[in-house]
Amino acid sequence: MKGPLLLLLTVWLYTQYGDCALLSSCSYPPSKWCSSLQAAVQCGVLKECLLSNFTKSHQKVDKVEVGLYYETLCPGCRQFLSLMLFPTWVMLMDIMDVKLVPYGNAQEKPAGQKYTYECQHGEQECFGNMLETCLLNMTEYAFPIIFCMESSSDVIKSAKNCAEVYAPELKWETLMKCVNGDQGMQLMHQNALATQGLKPPHEYVPWVTVNGEHTEDLQDKAMTSLYTLVCSMYKGPKPPVCGQSQKAYQSRCKKE
Ligand SMILES: *[C@@H]1O[C@H](CO)[C@@H](O)[C@H](O)[C@H]1NC(C)=O
Ligand SMILES: *[C@@H]1O[C@H](CO)[C@@H](O)[C@H](O)[C@H]1NC(C)=O
Repeated sequence: MKGPLLLLLTVWLYTQYGDCALLSSCSYPPSKWCSSLQAAVQCGVLKECLLSNFTKSHQKVDKVEVGLYYETLCPGCRQFLSLMLFPTWVMLMDIMDVKLVPYGNAQEKPAGQKYTYECQHGEQECFGNMLETCLLNMTEYAFPIIFCMESSSDVIKSAKNCAEVYAPELKWETLMKCVNGDQGMQLMHQNALATQGLKPPHEYVPWVTVNGEHTEDLQDKAMTSLYTLVCSMYKGPKPPVCGQSQKAYQSRCKKE
């Protein structure tokens, strides 16, 4: 069966894509078929070119990276993360990456070979920052777990249950080893460096960056409608979910 099928395929391929000039008015070499709309139409490969162009542009375009510099017990941070950042990411994860840096207004002090930390909202917050830092390093479900914690009434107390729900394979003891050990400290030191290296330096938290950049304008837009901001900043073809938000705006009722 294989021989005849192969022959058929070869003949079909030849008639479709072989000597174009002979079969139709295609006057372009194969490498130029998708170079213009005209060439694609002439050579009968418009559909294929459109599809391949679409796929290519999709792969090449970088996602919009939203960075959040925050601390675990700051009310404004919790509100932004739970009500804006996470829901937006759930809808737009195909075009959006989130980078979380738990540290915020904490202070790092060298103590011999190690570091100690002081946090704006006390020891509990330092613990929360460390917990979320370790989660970000140890599980791909860190963001849902962090959302679960930050949106609950007690960020710290909810941690164990939240982790069990989203990452049942992650052992609490393993996590605590990170939190209380050198690994957590090293990871927190990286957060401290990233936060201290912000340009311009952060003046408050939550502090938002978009593709590594912070301006008052970006911050305001992120706070009021991150969804619209991410859709508008994405350079590739807009995914359907971005169109939906526009429709929502069009369905506003105008004042007479
Ligand atoms: C494919 O993309 C190229 C470069 O972006 C463009 O010039 C060309 O017109 C596109 N082809 C089609 C058939 O849309
Ligand atoms: C976790 O942290 C270690 C250093 O302690 C690092 O080598 C590793 O790349 C990190 N993994 C992730 C997923 O961030």
